[in-house]
Amino acid sequence: MSKANDLKAWQQKAQAQTELVLERLMPPEHIVPQTLHEAMRYVTLGGGKRLRPLLVLAAAELGQADQTAVEHAMAAVEMIHVYSLVHDDMPAMDNDSLRRGKPTCHVRYDEATALLTGDALQTLAFDVLSRPTGLPAARQLKMVATLAQASGSLGMAGGQAIDLANVGKPMNQAGLEQMHGLKTGALIRAAVALGALACPDLGDDDLQRLDGYARKLGLAFQVIDDVLDCEADTATLGKTAGKDADNDKPTYVKLMGLEPARRYAEDLVAEAVALLAPFGEKAGYLRALAEFVTARKH
Ligand code: IPE
Ligand code: IPE
Ligand code: MG
Ligand code: MG
Ligand code: MG
Repeated sequence: MSKANDLKAWQQKAQAQTELVLERLMPPEHIVPQTLHEAMRYVTLGGGKRLRPLLVLAAAELGQADQTAVEHAMAAVEMIHVYSLVHDDMPAMDNDSLRRGKPTCHVRYDEATALLTGDALQTLAFDVLSRPTGLPAARQLKMVATLAQASGSLGMAGGQAIDLANVGKPMNQAGLEQMHGLKTGALIRAAVALGALACPDLGDDDLQRLDGYARKLGLAFQVIDDVLDCEADTATLGKTAGKDADNDKPTYVKLMGLEPARRYAEDLVAEAVALLAPFGEKAGYLRALAEFVTARKH
């Protein structure tokens, strides 16, 4: 089997595992309040590339992972991500009507339901992450703190605030790097850290090296998101193409142009991959996921 086939098979298996774990951990639709549970499942199940859970799983390959902690982390980081998408699409933010090929949460339901769906997914993420595992309590607590910090005002939510505050304004590269590093990079870094933290045999040096990889990957991921917003069509993206220009968003494409932005992301991915060298073969999936970030079409 070729290396590419090998990755594809692993990716499909990991995506199926993510779906099963999420399905198991979310309240069923028949439980009151039914509409809220239906909306939570509508936005979370059956879509998305699942990059963040896959990063958890790939990082956990580096050590002796506690499988329960890994599965909880996969679900928790995806729940935070999905909550961020639900709120990102709302009229007060990007005002988008299509997500993962389906009507957005506030369009399918209503704005109040979309707000509550995001709220409930966010808290469910921490509920799940604090459930019993085989890890030492201090290690598990570190996982909870890692995800909380990556989600809050010094992470994803902070990046979203910077994004909205800069609509229609010019931003320099340092400003964009900070914004992208927070709104998208923080959760990607957390995903990698959570996978490593689920392995009690990995130490601070490993975590630091992995964070170098994840920082570069997280930035590259949002640069490519900006590129695809210009380059790809709505059907392929499963979300409205050309939205950044319509909303006059600060993006890397606006700063440097389409091709230089793509080259910049490719350079970042190459640097990220180089940082994995000391981990050898075990980092194969992390390497492959980095390459997927620039090769992806949506
Ligand atoms: C989209 O994330 C929003 C960003 C943070 C750039 P993804 O491109 O990972 O979206 P899904 O999860 O595959 O739908
Ligand atoms: C999204 O950035 C970042 C978060 C959702 C945290 P975008 O606004 O560019 O994401 P898309 O393009 O709508 O998926
Ligand atoms: Mg946005
Ligand atoms: Mg958006
Ligand atoms: Mg975008």
